[in-house]
Amino acid sequence: MGFLNSLHLKLALLVTTAATLAAAEAQTKPGCNNKCGNVSVPYPFGTSENCYYRDEDLNFFLNCTTTTSPSSGEATTQLIYGDNIPVLNISLDPPELTVSADVSYHCYNSSYSYNWMKVGKFSISNTENRFTVVGCDTYAYFRDLSSTFRTGSMLTCSNETKFKEAGGCSGVGCCQTSFPQAITNYDITLRSFENYSDVRDFNPCGYAFIAKEGSFNFSYRELLNLSNRTQFPVVVDWSVSNQTCPEAQKDKRSYACKQNSRCKESVSGIGYYCVCEDGFRGNPYLDTGCKGKPQ
Ligand SMILES: *[C@@H]1O[C@H](CO)[C@@H](O)[C@H](O)[C@H]1NC(C)=O
Ligand SMILES: *[C@@H]1O[C@H](CO)[C@@H](O)[C@H](O)[C@H]1NC(C)=O
Ligand SMILES: *[C@@H]1O[C@H](CO)[C@@H](O)[C@H](O)[C@H]1NC(C)=O
Ligand SMILES: *[C@@H]1O[C@H](CO)[C@@H](O)[C@H](O)[C@H]1NC(C)=O
Ligand SMILES: *[C@@H]1O[C@H](CO)[C@@H](O)[C@H](O)[C@H]1NC(C)=O
Ligand SMILES: *[C@@H]1O[C@H](CO)[C@@H](O)[C@H](O)[C@H]1NC(C)=O
Ligand SMILES: *[C@@H]1O[C@H](CO)[C@@H](O)[C@H](O)[C@H]1NC(C)=O
Ligand SMILES: *[C@@H]1O[C@H](CO)[C@@H](O)[C@H](O)[C@H]1NC(C)=O
Ligand SMILES: *[C@@H]1O[C@H](CO)[C@@H](O)[C@H](O)[C@H]1NC(C)=O
Ligand SMILES: *[C@@H]1O[C@H](CO)[C@@H](O)[C@H](O)[C@H]1NC(C)=O
Repeated sequence: MGFLNSLHLKLALLVTTAATLAAAEAQTKPGCNNKCGNVSVPYPFGTSENCYYRDEDLNFFLNCTTTTSPSSGEATTQLIYGDNIPVLNISLDPPELTVSADVSYHCYNSSYSYNWMKVGKFSISNTENRFTVVGCDTYAYFRDLSSTFRTGSMLTCSNETKFKEAGGCSGVGCCQTSFPQAITNYDITLRSFENYSDVRDFNPCGYAFIAKEGSFNFSYRELLNLSNRTQFPVVVDWSVSNQTCPEAQKDKRSYACKQNSRCKESVSGIGYYCVCEDGFRGNPYLDTGCKGKPQ
């Protein structure tokens, strides 16, 4: 009995593994790499010619680069989007890239800090990310470079005890705000009111960053750790073109959704994406990507 059960289990596992492998194979065009380092790269994304989707000036090329550290000789493979933005993960549905973005910091010994990021045709998810500012003598602005939107935070904490007792990111030493959808390029400026003169012994620097919700939970100890933190994950919404579904469907040549799939409007309000019809699974951007359930 136990033997039979375990045999069943093994068979079930084998079947599942085979199905998973088949699904993984169907994620790229034939002959294209489906991985860069440990990141899976499903079509419409691709790392070499003829392996990614392109439409006029929008293309889904990602640069898979391997650099060797001159000192240790250790090789690092990274997937790069656009202006040197590392990609950590790719999801087709919801259509999201998880990328890595720099933390802005400003310390008592400099006058201010300025940082910017361009995600090109895609946009920073305003549902999955927060703008966070941490510090005790800090003010920071987050600005959309393609509109007039600007949000700021000012933080003061009179003394260390108060700062230590702050529960969560709720205005004492830390504050988080949301921002509108469809921001593609932004900058962050950080300054201090009084050069951290009253708080320097426990808080010599202030920090500001856009980060995926849940990737940073504020606490006094986390503040100390921030001095060693250079990047945070950020969720980017991607979409195909800047057309709505009805517009895209008119142009059969560039319409990206293939057999047994349908079009959905992007959550960011720009462009569309594709999903398999109900009952089908696979990659909706490939010619025979969406397959019915095998019986
Ligand atoms: C890839 O590996 C890095 C470092 O080992 C890890 O931090 C990251 O989460 C991994 N990414 C994925 C998609 O597994
Ligand atoms: C990819 O990145 C490498 C290293 O930065 C660069 O030399 C190469 O030109 C890039 N490839 C493309 C197609 O942009
Ligand atoms: C990466 O994206 C896939 C969906 O494509 C998701 O299942 C997985 O949890 C994500 N991994 C990380 C580390 O976010
Ligand atoms: C300011 O101090 C920090 C930490 O001590 C140091 O890393 C940085 O290089 C200094 N910056 C300047 C402009 O002196
Ligand atoms: C803080 O100190 C730095 C270096 O001494 C100086 O460049 C900067 O202007 C000062 N900032 C303020 C707000 O006083
Ligand atoms: C810090 O502030 C708290 C609350 O305002 C106060 O009770 C405490 O005495 C202050 N501590 C110091 C060292 O000033
Ligand atoms: C932050 O807290 C949430 C909810 O408790 C948890 O799921 C998440 O893993 C935490 N994140 C970090 C980086 O510790
Ligand atoms: C601070 O960073 C260290 C090493 O990266 C980590 O082990 C520790 O959990 C972090 N502290 C907190 C409070 O998360
Ligand atoms: C930051 O990194 C340095 C060097 O790796 C280490 O000595 C220090 O303890 C770290 N600080 C924290 C707060 O984790
Ligand atoms: C959509 O993109 C095309 C080219 O990619 C551009 O010419 C056009 O102005 C864009 N339309 C809108 C409404 O942004």
